[in-house]
Amino acid sequence: MKILVINGPNLNMLGIREKELYGKKNYKNLIKTIKDYCEKEKMTVEIYQSNYEGDLVNKIQEAYKNYDGIVINPAAYTHTSVAILDALKAVSIPTVEVHLTDVDQREEFRKISFVSYYAQKTIKGLGFDGYLKAIDFLKENYSKI
Ligand code: DQA
Repeated sequence: MKILVINGPNLNMLGIREKELYGKKNYKNLIKTIKDYCEKEKMTVEIYQSNYEGDLVNKIQEAYKNYDGIVINPAAYTHTSVAILDALKAVSIPTVEVHLTDVDQREEFRKISFVSYYAQKTIKGLGFDGYLKAIDFLKENYSKI
């Protein structure tokens, strides 16, 4: 099974940004956690990060027919981006939305997620583990083997 993990703006600043919310581990640690897990689970994974909405849309479009599942943390674009929602709908690849923090327990504006209109599942508030749970969900529900 081939999975694409997409991370949105400021997630490259993990370990620096708001440590009390997002933790002390940095983005490289997140990549290693995901890669090690996928190796153990015998899954192929690509991990992509961008601070630009259009780059995220392009990456989703490029995934068409190339990936069996998407794990996406659109970060701030979660709450604003119809373009990312439409790209996910266009490629129609099973998708899990992940948030490191529990967005429902934060500011009002974080309670709205456009991506949730498409994602088959949303995982929030579990830190790095949320990505691994998302991969499990895709494997359990959408693996072709
Ligand atoms: C986030 C939550 C978003 O509201 C925020 O803009 C982020 C990260 C999370 O992982 O908890 O950048 O998606």
